[in-house]
Amino acid sequence: MPSNPNSFLMKKILSGIQPTGDIHLGNYFGAIDNWVKLQDNYLCTYGVVDYHSMTMPYDPKKLKENTWKMAFQILACGVKVENLFIQSLVPEHTELAWILGCVCSYGELSRMTQFKDKSEQLNDKGKDSVISAGLFYYPVLQAADILIYHADLVPVGKDQEQHLELSRNIAQRFNFLYNKEYFHHPDPLFTETPKILSLADPTRKMSKSLGEKHHINVFGEEAQIRKQIRSAVTDAGESSGNEMSAGVKNLFEILKACGDLNSYNSLIREYHSQQLKYSSLKEAVAEALVAKLKPFHENLQQIQENKKDIKNQIKASSEKIRERARQTVKEVREIAGL
Ligand code: TRP
Repeated sequence: MPSNPNSFLMKKILSGIQPTGDIHLGNYFGAIDNWVKLQDNYLCTYGVVDYHSMTMPYDPKKLKENTWKMAFQILACGVKVENLFIQSLVPEHTELAWILGCVCSYGELSRMTQFKDKSEQLNDKGKDSVISAGLFYYPVLQAADILIYHADLVPVGKDQEQHLELSRNIAQRFNFLYNKEYFHHPDPLFTETPKILSLADPTRKMSKSLGEKHHINVFGEEAQIRKQIRSAVTDAGESSGNEMSAGVKNLFEILKACGDLNSYNSLIREYHSQQLKYSSLKEAVAEALVAKLKPFHENLQQIQENKKDIKNQIKASSEKIRERARQTVKEVREIAGL
């Protein structure tokens, strides 16, 4: 049973994250932090979407490892275990994806910019990397993730807007073709979240794929985090006049995101009176970050000490969530004449 007595009045939220291994600051401030907060006011369901990770070349052993790692880290950040599932433990997603794919047009999928970007990446890698049909089908699986739980709202970044729109279109088309108002039309939920940029190249979004120097792992060692902040690019090579450089802006953004507004305000004042030493800014950012992340590190430590038990809890919550998915697929099969 949902723990909140008003849950039947609450809107339903669904979101997913790919098991890329370690959560970095961009993932945390851009998504997970928001997921945690939303749990108070919505009925939330969050998936570690491992089926999606198969759409690019991958190593099966690593995938399994990264899936659990991601699940543990998400819990350590404050997501409640009863809200969390692992996508491949709910295989109904793939069945629904097949059915939805049959009401989605080839043309629509060809227009997805993420598909174009990722297939270009693969093309650049040369002849050994195949652009899979799975990569093309990715957005249909995402629509299934959303529609299978009748989600009202989907917290995502702007880069997922097109996929969300496709999910709505698929829902509409399904309802129209089968002449039944069955699926909700999910809306994206764009929350103002801090935009965390790469430390080494602050003109780009922080991302794991850029390489080691570019991102900070939320669960990285304290000494490592301090070192990374210390070596963050400030305004090397830029001559932007009076405007704050992207690197400095990024450091301020991280400081603010950590919630240390006192030091944020006083350092901003120093910046404007041209008194700011970047070393003190970096020191403040490192302090704030280490303090912010400390409780998460402690949580993860505990989780790791009870790994087996926590794994079982995640399996149990996935099974519970699966019951909802089963119900949807049962109804959809009936509607679709299977
Ligand atoms: N495509 C999303 C991303 O890369 C991940 C995702 C998969 C997702 N299924 C989802 C997000 C369902 C929201 C809802 O960020």
